[in-house]
Parts: sequence; structure tokens; C-alpha cells
Amino acid sequence: MKRREQKFSRRGFLKASGAAGLALAGPCFLPSSSGPAVGGRERFFHPNLADDDASDSQPETGGLRSLAAGKGLLIGSAFSNDAFQNDSLYGEVLAREFNCLVAENTMKLDVIQRVRGRFDFGPADEMMAFAGRKGMKVRAVPLVWHDALPDWAQDKTFPRQEALDILRGHIFTVMGHFQGRVFAWDVLNEALNDKGPGLREEDPWHRSIGPEYVDRIYHWAHEADPRAALFYNEFGMEGMSEKADRCYEWIKGLRARGVPIHGLGLQFHIQVDKHPTRADVTRNIKRFNDLGLTVHITELDVWLPKKADAADFRKQAAIYREVFETALAAKNCPAVVLWGFTDRYSWVPGISNDSYDQALIFDRDYRAKPAYEAIASVLR
Ligand code: XIL
Repeated sequence: MKRREQKFSRRGFLKASGAAGLALAGPCFLPSSSGPAVGGRERFFHPNLADDDASDSQPETGGLRSLAAGKGLLIGSAFSNDAFQNDSLYGEVLAREFNCLVAENTMKLDVIQRVRGRFDFGPADEMMAFAGRKGMKVRAVPLVWHDALPDWAQDKTFPRQEALDILRGHIFTVMGHFQGRVFAWDVLNEALNDKGPGLREEDPWHRSIGPEYVDRIYHWAHEADPRAALFYNEFGMEGMSEKADRCYEWIKGLRARGVPIHGLGLQFHIQVDKHPTRADVTRNIKRFNDLGLTVHITELDVWLPKKADAADFRKQAAIYREVFETALAAKNCPAVVLWGFTDRYSWVPGISNDSYDQALIFDRDYRAKPAYEAIASVLR
């Protein structure tokens, strides 16, 4: 297993995202009889999220991306450089099906600044070039995160000013490099404390600076690229929950004091038998929209138990369908990004200790699964 995978706390993630009951297992997040309500997405908070987002040049025709563009929706996938380099079908299918890309790992701190002060944009630039050739938008994850830390930052507490300088330098250098090519940035990822109120305190940035590091990084990001939409990205709060309530109040506070935060990313790593209800997700998205935030679904995958049967695949398809319907029906949820597209390359077996698998819309041999057709039928 790769080092990055080891560092990502498997137990913590599972606990917070499902096994501990994020998901209100319930009857409702299954297909509804009513068709998709295609809501207007006219009230974009940020100019850079305007209507042309899904309408750029489209060298590839067919596939989900043309259907999605017809609905004004961005449909995205995580991008793996390893897969791209070693498997020619990977890039082909990606360009046919998606109009938006997100680097799965290569824009994280432990890759871009593996050595302190030396910036390595090589792998990310490879993805950018591909996205440019294929007319795909790029959203980026994340500038600041407690995970994917390089050795020089792992478990460290820096003098306050030094930590501020590190974050400021990172944001200006990285956003400067990608200026104009990334339309939405997850400035901060998973900062909320999972064990109680407030923010996670165990990461180097909170430890060294205190909670006000959040205000600073959003102001710097806005200064670095005033046209980029700035998001906060979080897991395990897709529906209404105590964590989602806390996030709502916190972001409301940030905006009230003028912090430039324009969007919320809901990760949507969900399990086939444990997932939030459609009604809850709708309510949650609505309240953030009403606050003036654009919502993106940022890392969708629907995990199946290792020994999945036909009924599981049908349920999975129904969940994918519901997520797309919910996004389309929302006032302002113009992007749905999948955390990969083929089960051949997915983080799910690794993170779940091989308990879950087959979370994506193509199988290991690039055969479309029922989930693919479910999405296509929503977008048609
Ligand atoms: C994951 C990648 O998919 C893995 O390859 C890597 O080992 C760990 O990180 N939330 C996030 C993503 O914000 O960046 C994570 O990606 C998955 C959970």
C-alpha cells in the first residue's frame, strides 16, 4: 500500500462516514417515481461559476459529458496520473464521459511540496494539459488539509509566524502557477472536528496558528486568484446532521465577517446500505444555497460490500440516480464529481480494508454498470 493511503486514517474515515451512522439508513434515498426536476441554477454567487461552465469546446462527443452539458451540469472525475500513463483506455474513457477533472492526489501538499520550498507541478501539469486538450474544466483539491502532509510538516508545531508564512507561500505559489486554469479551489478540506465542537486541533496549522488560520487562507486565496471560486470541502455531512449543522453555523460566521468563501463541497463517499435520505440532502444543500454558497458534489462513490449481488448493483444505480436528480433539482449545485470512474482504479478497497469495492460506474474492464445507465437516463 502506498504511503499516502497508510496515512489516511482508515478507521477514522469509516467511523465518521458511515459505520458510525452518518447515514440515516432509510427508505428514502431510492428512486422516486417523479422525474428529475431540473432547477434553474441562475443564482451563482461567484462570477467564475457562471453559465458557460459546462459549455466549453467539446472535442469528445457522446458519453455522459454531452448529456450533462445539455443540462448545464459539470460531470467530473478524479484523475490518477498512474492510470493515465499506463493504460490508454483510461484517458479515452475519461475524455468521452467527463467535462471536469480533479487531481486525485497530485495537487496535495505532500506531492506539490514534498520537499519544503521546492514546488513540483509536473504531475498536476500533465493533467492540466490533458484537460486543456479535451476541453475539460479543472477543480482543485485541496490547498490546506490535515492529511497528505509531507514529512517536514507531519506532526509538527511551527512558530506561529513560520506557519503563516508556509501557508501564504504555498497558496500564492500554487494558485499563481495554475492561475486562470482552475475554476474552483477547495481551499480547505475536512477542518471540522469529528469528536466535538470546533475545528480539528491536531493538525499543524491549527496547532501552530489557532483557528484564525482559516480566515487567513481564504483571504490569501482570494488575493492570489480573485476570479477563482473558493470552496470548503467536507465529508460525512451530506444530509442533515449535527456535523452539517455545525458546518452551517461556522460558514455563516465566516461569511458574516467577510471571509471570501463561495462554495461548499460535499464529498459523498457513501455506502450502499448507509446513506443520507434524498429529503435530507435536498434540505442541506438548500440551506447552504440560501446562504449564498454554490454546492458541488465533489467525491461521489457508492461502496458495495465485497460480495455484492445483482440487487446491490441495482441499489447502487438507484443511489447514483438520486444524487444526480438531487443536484439538478437544487437551486445551485452545478457540478457532480465522481471519485474515479472505473473500479480498476479506486481508493475504496484500500481505505475499507477490502470490505467494500465496486463503488464506481464502470467495472474493472471498463464495462458500464447499471449506475452508468441510471445517470445517463437522468441526464437525457
Ligand atoms: C484519497 C485518494 O483517493 C487516495 O488515493 C489517497 O491515498 C488518500 O486520499 N477525501 C478527500 C480526498 O478529500 O482527497 C481523499 O482522496 C479521499 C477522502
